[in-house]
Amino acid sequence: DSVFNENRLRDLIRAVPDWPEPGVMFRDISTLLLSPSGMQMVHEHFAERYQDKGLTHIGALDARGFLLGAPLANTLGLPLVIFRKPGKLPADTIREEYTLEYGTAALEVHTDALNEGDKVVLIDDLIATGGTLLAATKLIRRLNASVVEAAAIIDLPALGGSSKLDNEGIKSFTLTSY
Ligand code: PRP
Ligand code: ADE
Ligand code: MG
Repeated sequence: DSVFNENRLRDLIRAVPDWPEPGVMFRDISTLLLSPSGMQMVHEHFAERYQDKGLTHIGALDARGFLLGAPLANTLGLPLVIFRKPGKLPADTIREEYTLEYGTAALEVHTDALNEGDKVVLIDDLIATGGTLLAATKLIRRLNASVVEAAAIIDLPALGGSSKLDNEGIKSFTLTSY
């Protein structure tokens, strides 16, 4: 077992100024992904938190959230629900539009992926405006299921996402913030 060390985590996240546009400080987890022990540390922290929480599903957000959600679902022995960018899911879907720190987007989920009463932890790499996690939450609620918590590696509190989620009744859990 690895002990969680926030400074070590922060050392593994690369900051890229003015990307993808001027004024954005991009927090790049690709450098964390290059570290098996860093990823193991993150994975174990989430797995420990979400075992024995009475969850029915892990929900992972396209694309970076998939990298965290799939191993978490596997470790916890839970089904993985994928929330995808438009036009990727082949069966019956519902859609929510949202705005990003840079641009607009939408998410879709298969209508048969969740049932009434299901309890989901959502996972993504980062919370900026909260638009992505809020859109996924709306999809889950439209399927009469609930979000137990929204988890991410990074919070950018100045962008207001985690407080927006809080206002919408969604608890968030993050490992570090900038
Ligand atoms: C990024 C990031 C989060 C989201 C956070 O995803 O991975 O999902 O933005 O921003 P928000 O809190 O303002 O919604 P993005 O859609 O840029 O792309 P990717 O995950 O497909 O790389
Ligand atoms: N998604 C939205 N804002 C971001 C940022 N500053 N860094 C990385 N991913 C992001
Ligand atoms: Mg993303």
